Amino acid sequence: MQTVLANGIQLAYRDEGEGLPLLLVHAFPLSGAMWQPQLNALASRYRVIVPDLRGFGASELGAGVESLDQYADDLNALLEHLGVQQAALAGLSMGGYIAFAFLRKYADRVNALVLADTKAAADTEEARQKREQNARLVETEGLGVLADQMLPNLLAAHTADEQREIVRGIIVANKPEGIAAALRAMAKRPDSTAMLSEIAIPTLVIVGSEDMLTPPSAARKMHDALPNSRLVEIPGAAHLSNLEAPEAFNQALDAHFGTIGARAFGAGGHSGGAW
Ligand code: MLT
Repeated sequence: MQTVLANGIQLAYRDEGEGLPLLLVHAFPLSGAMWQPQLNALASRYRVIVPDLRGFGASELGAGVESLDQYADDLNALLEHLGVQQAALAGLSMGGYIAFAFLRKYADRVNALVLADTKAAADTEEARQKREQNARLVETEGLGVLADQMLPNLLAAHTADEQREIVRGIIVANKPEGIAAALRAMAKRPDSTAMLSEIAIPTLVIVGSEDMLTPPSAARKMHDALPNSRLVEIPGAAHLSNLEAPEAFNQALDAHFGTIGARAFGAGGHSGGAW
């Protein structure tokens, strides 16, 4: 694990392998540790960059998070620090929401996109209220309660106990204040549906067939609106499809990046949409 001073905080990240840069953005309430199966399998052929978002894992929270743009700004600072001009950006769930925020501000830095177990829609009013309740819960009672509440929705019912414990361990290693800040930032995120038709870069939409948080219907909606996308549904996986079915997930990534080829990753650069 390395760190860089990014926008006033120490941001922790891993940067492994060589080749096309892939920037993997984790879900809530996890950390970069959730991408271990992708680091293991893909760092032999890609440069895999995995940050812990501000307030998660080993990264500091600093003064806080006003909106998801803060995470996008931190990712941009990380790419600057690493001298990576363009990367393929993959976000799972909250990571996908942050990918949309990143594209709004830094589209020229992204040459391919993966939207995994995520959605473009904003929160409903009811969901916003639930997030505020959960933020207070975490601030008063810590992360164990939130982990127990969320785990049944994060992983499919048939998931082995050992794997469930690994995910729980990643969640409870976080800082309550970082998790509360992320909940409030997610509640404020805008609806990204309108920007989908403007995303011209090759996009892979992945979803677990049993994902109840961001279901296959949400993935299909994004796929239908995106001009240049492919949809992969992973049978038997729920919300954390990269952990639950790493082989299928990694294969989908490989196939996506393989068909994009050198053109998308060349020095020419992509001119982003007008967001
Ligand atoms: C996630 O996995 O990042 C969360 O389920 C996203 C959310 O709470 O909307």
